[in-house]
Amino acid sequence: MTPEDPRPASCEALEPAARAVLSEAAYHYYAGGADDETTLRANRAAFERFYLRPRVLRDVSEVDTSVELLGERLSMPILLAPTAFQRLAHAEGEKASARAARAAGTLMVASTLSTTPIEEVAAAAPGPLWFQLYVFRQRDITRALVERAEAAGCTAICLTVTVPVQGNRERDTRTGFRLPPELEMANFAGLRQAAFPDDAAGSGLAAFIGREFDPTLTWGAVEWLRSITRLPIVLKGIVTPEDAALAVEHGADAVIVSNHGGRQLDCAEPTLLALPRVAQAVAGRIPVLMDGGIRRGTDVAKALALGARAVLVGRPVLWGLAVDGQAGVERVLDMLGGELRRTLALLGRPSVRALDASAITEIPGLILPPR
Ligand SMILES: Cc1cc2nc3c(=O)[nH]c(=O)nc-3n(C[C@H](O)[C@H](O)[C@H](O)COP(=O)(O)O)c2cc1C
Repeated sequence: MTPEDPRPASCEALEPAARAVLSEAAYHYYAGGADDETTLRANRAAFERFYLRPRVLRDVSEVDTSVELLGERLSMPILLAPTAFQRLAHAEGEKASARAARAAGTLMVASTLSTTPIEEVAAAAPGPLWFQLYVFRQRDITRALVERAEAAGCTAICLTVTVPVQGNRERDTRTGFRLPPELEMANFAGLRQAAFPDDAAGSGLAAFIGREFDPTLTWGAVEWLRSITRLPIVLKGIVTPEDAALAVEHGADAVIVSNHGGRQLDCAEPTLLALPRVAQAVAGRIPVLMDGGIRRGTDVAKALALGARAVLVGRPVLWGLAVDGQAGVERVLDMLGGELRRTLALLGRPSVRALDASAITEIPGLILPPR
């Protein structure tokens, strides 16, 4: 008899294990979406609309999952999405995630709203690291963030464009989401911006974003960013062909098809459905990435077949981090990478480059899971 492996065998199976160790408020902050969470569910459900088309009798003894992205070669087309407040999940927080990304040969996107300063995240795992940027009403704060990210060795700036105002996250309103006193927004240590407003009812994060984030942003912000950094600019949150065309026009070096994991505009289109239209509009001029609902290697394969160069993973990384710190995140990346490798072999496509529209077929009608 072989011994059993007690560890969760999939990303989905990690969530209950993580819930068991997280505070109620942290779990709901991580898991939740906006309003009725329609988009949160639809992001996942969209994957059921597509099926894979395996070709057989092809030599798949060697499978290559590596991919080139903005001048870097990564071991696999799976990145760690920027997620705020990772020390709510584990004491090592962002450092553990960055180390796990490095160990797996991929990269992490470090959030502006990190509970570890960007310098320490970069020092924990030297190598490719992208910095996710939110633009503050106080532009000098934003400029300082970009300068620090560059000085720390970050290799791209990922400007998130999905948060002109915060989505209505009712779980956080209910829990009165706050950072515990021992944590702060470490990129702003010593500034007012390190903490949520202390007089706000409901979600402290919603009050913070309302007070600090710049809702007047336009495409001019991309030009401004271009004028202050030499790093590649990645726009996160492009979901229409119209905006994809504007992104290319304004000199973006890559776009991420993202609806912020269903946390901003509820009833926004699921990203897997938006992806092929964005990819068509971009027409190979810059890489198109996507995130939202990636939980299996087959999901990665579907996204790549529909035009993504790579995908990003949000919540599963947080579940892995909560359960077992760096080792937990390594496990998530190992599971997803292994699943992708097996999927490519079973699809008869021995490299990610061989994944194109011939690998996928669509069935009509979106199958929504029960609420
Ligand atoms: C808890 C949490 C915090 C997040 N924080 C940020 C953030 O600080 N900046 C950002 O650009 N996106 C943020 N996101 C969105 C993720 O980058 C990503 O778009 C999304 O989680 C992908 O969907 P998935 O969780 O289904 O993989 C966050 C998502 C979650 C779940």
